[in-house]
Amino acid sequence: MNYKRFAPVLLVLSVLALYNSAKAQDLIDKKVDSVLSKMTLAEKVGQMNQYNGDWEATGPVTKAVGDKLGEIKQGRVGAVLNIMGSAHTKMFQDAAMQSRLKIPLLFGQDVIHGYRITFPIPLAEACSWDIDAIERAERIAATEASASGINWTFSPMVDIARDPRWGRVMEGAGEDPYLGSLIAAARVHGFQGRGLGNIDAIMACAKHFAAYGAAIGGRDYNSVDISMHTLWEVYLPPFKAAAEAGAATFMNSFNDLNGTPATGNSYLQREVLKKIWNFKGFVVSDWGSIGEMIPHGYAKDNYQAAEIAVKAGNDMDMESRSYIDNLEKLVNDGKVSVALLDESVRRILRKKFEMGLFDDPYRYINPAREKSMLNRPQSQEEAKSMAQKSIVLLKNNNQLLPLSKELKTVALIGPLGKAKKEQKGFWSLDIEPNEDIPSVFESLQKAAPKTQFVYQYGCNIDDQSHAGFAAAVEAAKKADVVVMAMGEAPDMTGEAKSKANIHLPGVQEELIKAIVETGKPVVVLLMAGRPMIFNWTADNANAILYTWWLGSQGGNAIADVIYGAYNPSGKLPITFPRTEGQIPIYYNHLNTGRPAASDKDVFYKSAYIDLPNSPRYAFGFGLSYTSFDYIDDGVFYSTTPIKDNETLKISFTLKNTGKYAGEETVQLYIRDLVSQPLRPVKELKDFKKVFLQPGESRQVTFTISRDMLYFYNDNLQYVTQPGDFQVMIGSASDDIRLKRTFELTN
Ligand code: NOJ
Repeated sequence: MNYKRFAPVLLVLSVLALYNSAKAQDLIDKKVDSVLSKMTLAEKVGQMNQYNGDWEATGPVTKAVGDKLGEIKQGRVGAVLNIMGSAHTKMFQDAAMQSRLKIPLLFGQDVIHGYRITFPIPLAEACSWDIDAIERAERIAATEASASGINWTFSPMVDIARDPRWGRVMEGAGEDPYLGSLIAAARVHGFQGRGLGNIDAIMACAKHFAAYGAAIGGRDYNSVDISMHTLWEVYLPPFKAAAEAGAATFMNSFNDLNGTPATGNSYLQREVLKKIWNFKGFVVSDWGSIGEMIPHGYAKDNYQAAEIAVKAGNDMDMESRSYIDNLEKLVNDGKVSVALLDESVRRILRKKFEMGLFDDPYRYINPAREKSMLNRPQSQEEAKSMAQKSIVLLKNNNQLLPLSKELKTVALIGPLGKAKKEQKGFWSLDIEPNEDIPSVFESLQKAAPKTQFVYQYGCNIDDQSHAGFAAAVEAAKKADVVVMAMGEAPDMTGEAKSKANIHLPGVQEELIKAIVETGKPVVVLLMAGRPMIFNWTADNANAILYTWWLGSQGGNAIADVIYGAYNPSGKLPITFPRTEGQIPIYYNHLNTGRPAASDKDVFYKSAYIDLPNSPRYAFGFGLSYTSFDYIDDGVFYSTTPIKDNETLKISFTLKNTGKYAGEETVQLYIRDLVSQPLRPVKELKDFKKVFLQPGESRQVTFTISRDMLYFYNDNLQYVTQPGDFQVMIGSASDDIRLKRTFELTN
């Protein structure tokens, strides 16, 4: 299509759209003001109050279940969480409709990786580097949740995580701000679909603002002590991306940031989020985090905690009861102005209007829609495809994988071989208690009907018993190939699930050793929510697939990969350390004045004398059943400096040199060679996913532009500095195939 011809039309249309949306916003603002003018102080405070529902708690409940429905009828509650399904949400909305002003309730839920259908955990999905697929996954989650009464998810978690000991590493997109930002925006778009007001859209909530992932020692809820530079360069970008993508809400975090709890941090919430980023939605506290400023030692009681939080820009209180118990008094005592409360209430009401809840408080509550939208076959297909893309092939000696369907006997060994619901991982919802998730054992049997599968558990996940070893070894000896399903328990990652020891738990690695010693070819599947440590396995198993927790379609996706129906394409979004002593370890670090040139280079170098500097598996790493050559054809590369808004094109030929069709994620990194302050040794700036048939070649072209070269200087201004840059293109952050330098002038 010739877009130029249509340019004037498109321009008129977009001006019209802008005008219409400004008009609609204007109208909503008027409606908000009208409701606000009728509200008593107590009702305003009620809108800023969120309670947990009566059925399930995702945190320590502040007060034993009281008469919540009664409080809702009095207009003392603006939102609830952990109430799902049309029947339950209706019961609560009915109560809200009995309040004086009939302001509808919001229903929030942790829809973290799927609703009825469980998708892979977010960290696994990030391995796909498939931004569109991630958006589609959230679209399905939103479609299901919105049909079940939910209109607000506490997702995406966009915290950068450089520490795999932190249990919540599973909920994010890993360690990289660029990839993390793309995924943050995709998830927001997925949840909010065509925009709030559409019946299949739910409000997204970017969390946990901010820097929660930098908890010292990887211990959940711990203090964060980082420079402002690191905050802006590493931890804030995905939040900025989420705000720009239109996230309706933000959640603050449990941690203190350099001595100020995020919940009471007005720099983060008022200055950065609401002023610099012009965020128009509302901020909810994390569960009880206003009250937690007391044990932090930041507030002496809930009265002071509420004052600090509201002044810092925290609009809604999740479950600490600090607002409901204190805000009115704070206003009456002259400590907090009504205008300040009005600002928060306006933000909350605006979202309720945007979602059409004032027109119809029951619009998300519709049993017929609920029935037809949940668990649709095409959604299960999408979940399977996402699960396939989330698997990372870490090793495949002598092309052991894919397995032949003609094998006579395969022994499946390991504590997770028959795992069913466990495959959903932490932060999954049990919407259908009878959901039958195929185990790896069942899926393998289905995929290769001619093969006889023998199962032995071998050992438990996390104890010291060797009781199952002998039978497992016997089974291995009789098999042509052994597949081992090993890993963590699903509740070893997630909130409050930090671990100091992240080795493959229990005696599992001993079992792998015993099985490898039989001399049989061994494929190890590793299921977990974090990068684990498994050095012996990495050195000695024949093939390793890191499968994370893949959700409802886990078993099927694994069988597809094992038998080659899907050629693995996942790439790690987070570095895997060799041992805990290397943590934090991440690819985009600064150079020291004495960098080690290799793992052996320790003489007065920034290195360990008892351990290589390099990680076990680097950011961006992941193998395929096929192989790819990066052929430097030098096309389009120019040696003239980039000036003003000029761009530089760099291209090469990618060739599939193996026997299987497959997809490569080509990664482009840039290093600013000299700068003040320092810049990382490499930073991901772009990537492309290229699918090639065996023998096929394709020219791949990247465009380098000035906006890839911006960074925050010492005054936190976002600038570029003229000078030399290095471009690195490769298959992983430690597998660079092509390098170029170019110059940027002013
Ligand atoms: C606490 C968690 O930190 C947060 O991520 C979650 O959304 C809330 N609990 C609600 O369950």
